[in-house]
Amino acid sequence: MRGTPSATIVDEVEALKREAGIAACSFVRSGMILGLGTGSTVRYTVLEIGRRMVEEGLQVKGVPTSEATRHLAEDLGIPLLTLEQADEIDLTIDGADEFDPDFQLIKGGGGALTQEKRVAAASRAMVVVADDRKQVPVLGGFDLPLEVGTSDWKRVRDELDSICPGMVRLRGGQIPYVTDNGGYILDCEFGPTISDPGKLEELILSVDGVVEVGLFVGMCDAVVMATLSEVLTIVKEDGRLN
Ligand code: A5P
Repeated sequence: MRGTPSATIVDEVEALKREAGIAACSFVRSGMILGLGTGSTVRYTVLEIGRRMVEEGLQVKGVPTSEATRHLAEDLGIPLLTLEQADEIDLTIDGADEFDPDFQLIKGGGGALTQEKRVAAASRAMVVVADDRKQVPVLGGFDLPLEVGTSDWKRVRDELDSICPGMVRLRGGQIPYVTDNGGYILDCEFGPTISDPGKLEELILSVDGVVEVGLFVGMCDAVVMATLSEVLTIVKEDGRLN
């Protein structure tokens, strides 16, 4: 009996991810070039795009943000372009680890932040798919991921110690997690203190050896958020989807 409630919660969260992931496909039109994000929520978006291509004749091309997403999209028969091949991306749909009231994000829980940010930056608009656990008043409760070069991580960690109020940990510890780019990830425990993510992004990017930081500022135009009772589409007032 003791395991039952947590199993239920896991099922509920998975159902919310699925609802948000599928609902975001309302933004998708035939002919679009789509940035395909990474993670367990946007996975449902990619699956739904694959289903609509087969069952409804939807025609899109995708630009994957990770090897995992590339494999999934290939399995589904979604035609793919590299970022370099895509002139412009009409829309990127991706997950997030946190989003704040100004549509600023922490991403990188899945380790794909560098390519996710490049693809988002090349996109005309970005929609985030999430369940309501990801909505926060101030970013930072989720440890902020940074991608660093494998030979730079110790020096970057030491420098980050003077910027980050909490622990800075190498993801994977003794057996470090390696990104698609062959880098490492440092997870930085800021706590819910990141009230000016743009300023912090600039500061962290100025540290030599930092490849990318998982703060996405001014990139997200809408969030499709599933709650237990409904799926909400929150569109940024001065965003590119309005
Ligand atoms: C991948 O690197 C991340 O940015 C994900 O988009 C983010 O961690 C959200 O993933 P989930 O949908 O799995 O929570």
